[in-house]
Amino acid sequence: MKVVKSIKEMQNISDLLRADNKKIAVVPTMGYLHNGHISLIEKANELADIVITTLFVNPTQFAPNEDFNKYPRDFDRDCELASNANSDYIFAPNTLEMYPIGHSTIVLVSKVTEKFEGTFRPSHFQGVSTIVTKLFNITKPHFAIFGQKDYQQTLVVRRIIEDLNMDIDLVIAATLRENDGLAMSSRNVYLQESERKKAGIIFRAIEEVKRLIAKGETNRKILNSNLHKILREVVEIKIDYASIALADSLEEPEYFLSGDKAVILIACYLGKTRLIDNSIIIFPNKLNESNFIESF
Ligand code: PAF
Repeated sequence: MKVVKSIKEMQNISDLLRADNKKIAVVPTMGYLHNGHISLIEKANELADIVITTLFVNPTQFAPNEDFNKYPRDFDRDCELASNANSDYIFAPNTLEMYPIGHSTIVLVSKVTEKFEGTFRPSHFQGVSTIVTKLFNITKPHFAIFGQKDYQQTLVVRRIIEDLNMDIDLVIAATLRENDGLAMSSRNVYLQESERKKAGIIFRAIEEVKRLIAKGETNRKILNSNLHKILREVVEIKIDYASIALADSLEEPEYFLSGDKAVILIACYLGKTRLIDNSIIIFPNKLNESNFIESF
């Protein structure tokens, strides 16, 4: 596995690979890799000849009060894990390489960025869409692999690819979970032991609301209030949002209809750690005939 730090070198490598008819898949990450990331690299290897894993803790997607400085970093361990997972390249630029003096272009996606994460982290998606566009221009992939855990981010990336006519196949890979259902995340290391024991409540809230849907509940407010009720069983939890919405548009109808594809979205603090999770469900056609899908 080769580590590349310069944009020009990465672009040259990708140009040569493309000239050689190789299919390239990119796995954008902020490092501190865990099994969730490894599963993305594995997916990339299934689809493409060459896998580029990017490691860059992108400052522009963190607000000043957020955890950019303490975001976990371990470059050597990341390289070892990515290499073991058969990533062919790591692209790991420094901040000045990605944002040189004078950098002043941003990529702004509207609509799908406005709710949920957009409400609580107003500048976040602007940072994400800008860096993702830059990473696509640098690595020149045929496939881009993202995890479903950052569900709203996947909608944003889909818009970028479609709206800017990028010739890239977006592939969304299922969320990997710990035994108690906690979605794998680099930020899970922030959880204290006592908090970690309670974190499974997020997945339990999602599963219980899915059961309500299977029993025929379609009223959004009732479903949301059940999510909140279950999460509040853990007093240390502070909810940013816990809501169900239409999966493609994030619109929130009063009632869901049979066949609607919806997404249950949760963001909450457990102590000082912000956790997010989601799950997709199709509203059943008949009572008790729910189509439980965790992922795409
Ligand atoms: O999902 C992430 O880790 C980041 O938001 C991404 C896509 C690598 C952009 O910095």
